[in-house]
Amino acid sequence: MRHLSKEYDILATDRQELPRPVSGGPQFVRGNIEDRDFLQGLFAKYKIDAVLHLAAEKSLVVCENDPGAYRTNVLAALELYKLSRNNGAHFVFMSSDQVFDGKAGDYKEDSAPSPVNNYGKYKAEVERRLLGLDGVTICRTALVFDYRINPSSDNFDRDEVVNQSEFVDHVAARLSAGKTIKLPFDEIISPTYVGALYRQLRVVLQKRSLGILHCCGGEAISRYDFGLRIAGFLGLDASNIVSVTGKSYRPKNVSLNVSCSERLLGIKYPAVDEMLREMTEDEADNG
Ligand SMILES: NC(=O)c1ccc[n+]([C@@H]2O[C@H](COP(=O)([O-])OP(=O)(O)OC[C@H]3O[C@@H](n4cnc5c(N)ncnc54)[C@H](OP(=O)(O)O)[C@@H]3O)[C@@H](O)[C@H]2O)c1
Repeated sequence: MRHLSKEYDILATDRQELPRPVSGGPQFVRGNIEDRDFLQGLFAKYKIDAVLHLAAEKSLVVCENDPGAYRTNVLAALELYKLSRNNGAHFVFMSSDQVFDGKAGDYKEDSAPSPVNNYGKYKAEVERRLLGLDGVTICRTALVFDYRINPSSDNFDRDEVVNQSEFVDHVAARLSAGKTIKLPFDEIISPTYVGALYRQLRVVLQKRSLGILHCCGGEAISRYDFGLRIAGFLGLDASNIVSVTGKSYRPKNVSLNVSCSERLLGIKYPAVDEMLREMTEDEADNG
């Protein structure tokens, strides 16, 4: 929203208490995406050109244990697609590298999904049911990072990253307090700075690109090495980063091949250092 609201009128929804509107910024509406009447009401009230469907239950642990996550991640997504179609809106579904089993890595847009956890299974099911339908783009992304997502999260008492959106802040908080943080050396990912994701999504919206695209960073790296790079960029002592093996429910190497998506979108995807540089510059600019 920070980036897209510079050129689009944004109507943002969430089920939580929402930030107060800023003049010229996104307009916020509170509601549950499992509530069809709520969604239908939005389409009736506003002329919506595109739906960026980001809302999801993102915790792998919750998806394993709470059957309600299927309603959020699969049923609500399919219903929202139907409403988007009926109202002529382009539907962009945010999928994940977790649709793959992590045995091979370097997955292409047309590699066969093989999820090993419910979160990945739900994303793969939505992909399968939407692929080829009118007006749908499926964007697979991976470890989306930003600065100051939640600089004082309770999660930082833990010595492992709980919410991957907080990856940068979690590493920074632990290292600056002289505390250890454990990061897996055997989980390979394609980390994505939110600014890079924005540039990809903006072309998706402009071109109305359809099908499956990989919208992520251009370099594969282990979570452990990513932590070392973050420490380097933030000028923090990396000696408290402890290399560990990953959790059994996480696939090991879910790196995404980006050459086809780069070509389709006409963008060179950035390497990790380039994205960390952009992140530190954005932080300096935005305070
Ligand atoms: N972040 C990543 O690294 C990453 C990687 C791959 C794919 N993705 C996908 O990208 C999308 C955005 O991820 P994110 O990191 O922004 O996730 P996030 O921070 O967890 O945001 C998801 C939002 O969806 C909301 N939500 C969940 N259920 C809802 C419901 N029933 N009605 C309305 N809102 C609901 C959540 O609200 P609550 O706060 O109330 O739960 C939360 O604010 C997700 O689809 C995710 O699966 C993210």
